Amino acid sequence: MSQSILVFDSGVGGLSILAEIQALLPQHRYHYLFDNARLPYGELEEQTLISGCVELLVPLVAQIKADILVIACNSASTLVLPALRERLTIPVVGVVPAIKPAAKLTQSKHIGLLATPGTIKRRYTHELIAQYAQDCHVELFGSSELVMLAEQKCAGIALDPAVFRQLLQPIINTHIDVLVLGCTHFPMLKAEISAALGEGVTLLDSGAAIARRVQQLLQPNIEPMSAEPDIGLVAAYYTGTLSHGLEQLLLQQGFQGIKKLTAKGQ
Ligand code: SIN
Repeated sequence: MSQSILVFDSGVGGLSILAEIQALLPQHRYHYLFDNARLPYGELEEQTLISGCVELLVPLVAQIKADILVIACNSASTLVLPALRERLTIPVVGVVPAIKPAAKLTQSKHIGLLATPGTIKRRYTHELIAQYAQDCHVELFGSSELVMLAEQKCAGIALDPAVFRQLLQPIINTHIDVLVLGCTHFPMLKAEISAALGEGVTLLDSGAAIARRVQQLLQPNIEPMSAEPDIGLVAAYYTGTLSHGLEQLLLQQGFQGIKKLTAKGQ
């Protein structure tokens, strides 16, 4: 029987995670929530982020009878998972910056983490580095501008390569050989980031690992065959406003419905 999977992000970034999960597990029903009203999360106070996510997600999980919740946002995952797990009985999966695989892959023992300012300063991130990359020099770069550029790209706005070279200059000036994309918005900009950094830097994100984690958690309940009519991208929900360009993208991707939520998720 198909199961109901809710993927959540502040904006478009989680669509990169949703695509990985759906490619691995096409037999399920997918719901996606954008919290456009409070984007970008990397700039929010920690308590505002925790209470906002709880208020939005707990009612929506109940409303759509979600079987699993994926927090496809690093800024939120590094902070809100305990509060959500306390209030929900379904599995809650978060994204973790790919520090561990980056530390294994690097030849130079010099890696970078590109994330939001919120993720860069979180204790969780520093513990991850201390645990898995003690033998590496880790450069930390925080950017909310790149989050907004990913939003613009998905809304159909053309991006200027010179802006990327300028924003990524602090990274270009280092000697890293692996860069962790520690924000789910950044895989949307892989081509632009690669073009600015050159071929010597490998980009790593966590999308495939999250998809495998969701598969592990769903596996015991999956029945061999399902021919249900409503599998796939059931609905996208948003707070605040949705640009025309993004609405078109969601319809092209195959979302069957697009719905606005009020602040409390009702
Ligand atoms: C943001 O809203 O600041 C980006 C989300 C993320 O960290 O993945």
